[in-house]
Amino acid sequence: MDLTRPRDIRITCAPALASWLSEELSPLELPVISRTKTSVTTNGTWTDTWRLCLELRTALQVLYPLKSFRCHSPEDLYREARSMAWETIIAPDGYLTVESRVDHPSINNSMFPNLRLKDAIVDRIAAETGRRPDSGPERRGVVVHLFWKGEHATISLNASGRKLADRGYRRNPHKAPLQETLAAAIVLATGWKGESPLALPMCGSGTLAIEAALIALGRAPGLLRSKFGFEHVLGFDENRWSALRTAARRRAGKTPGVPIVASDLDEQAIDAARRNAETAGVAQLIEFHVADFARAPLPSTPGVLIVNPEYGARLGQEELLQPTYKRLGSYFKDHCDGWTCFVFSGNRYLTVHIGLKASRRIPFFNAEFECRLLRYEMWKGSKG
Ligand SMILES: C[S@@+](CC[C@H](N)C(=O)[O-])C[C@H]1O[C@@H](n2cnc3c(N)ncnc32)[C@H](O)[C@@H]1O
Repeated sequence: MDLTRPRDIRITCAPALASWLSEELSPLELPVISRTKTSVTTNGTWTDTWRLCLELRTALQVLYPLKSFRCHSPEDLYREARSMAWETIIAPDGYLTVESRVDHPSINNSMFPNLRLKDAIVDRIAAETGRRPDSGPERRGVVVHLFWKGEHATISLNASGRKLADRGYRRNPHKAPLQETLAAAIVLATGWKGESPLALPMCGSGTLAIEAALIALGRAPGLLRSKFGFEHVLGFDENRWSALRTAARRRAGKTPGVPIVASDLDEQAIDAARRNAETAGVAQLIEFHVADFARAPLPSTPGVLIVNPEYGARLGQEELLQPTYKRLGSYFKDHCDGWTCFVFSGNRYLTVHIGLKASRRIPFFNAEFECRLLRYEMWKGSKG
């Protein structure tokens, strides 16, 4: 199969992140061809997918299409897939995972098309080489993606393998951590790039602080990962990949000369955050403190403050959390002159208790919860 031909690469993301993802493509000099709520399509070669996996902060998967066809039944799927030269991209002693998104009236269990596609690939390789690759759900080899909606099916290589959100640094998730890609999008949405101090007074396991440090350094998040799906595809060019990684390392800038201060009431959260930051190689950039947000040290030069308070997904929690939101509003008014404060929350009944007027409300999703990133410009006498 020809992997040198530029194709329309579909990059998936969590809901509401597509606009941030689109913005990430222009420095990579790749076009935005189209956009949905959960994906951006660009055009590039198979090796461009390696760069995308290395550099993108807000993407989940990078899908390089191999074949699109009309598909009315699992038998059509088997026949079309069986005719593809899988032996040129999957080693006969390799390992294969098939994943799918299927919306077709004849299918009520996506395990079935996965199985038919896997059978077609393995049967083809067995017929051509005499050996059958292993398969399973583990994503430790080549990952093949099926998108089948109505009469149209597309079979792609999933270049990322495991989700790109899985950067590899969060060995200690603690409580209610943000997905790494969402945390990166939140920092990008605040506009903070490392020119002014950053305060994160409810940092939990440190995801926002770590993603912010990576952004300030200009360090590609994929440098933290040990393996991607594309590394298992036949013809993988180790030297080319190593050159891309070296170039990304060189591009990473110097340590920003501004403080990143992360704190949390919970000592265990700070412990987890510190260890995660060490794994990500950015611990030296972040000051950690155990403190209530109102008593946490705040740099004397104003900058950007981001909080992600709990927002009471479970019954009865809302009432308990109201005082925290109220205190946040008072804290911004009394202590944050000159700061731009952001609150990321999924509960508008709680954010009302902040008691200040947000200058922007940026929509996000955290899993199934609709959320907002609220922006408060604080200056002397700010009353809301
Ligand atoms: C939703 S979690 C933040 C998760 C974080 N964004 C992450 O990715 O891991 C909210 C955090 O706020 C902390 N917190 C709650 N009340 C606080 C307070 N009064 N002062 C400081 N931290 C507080 C909790 O301990 C918890 O770690």
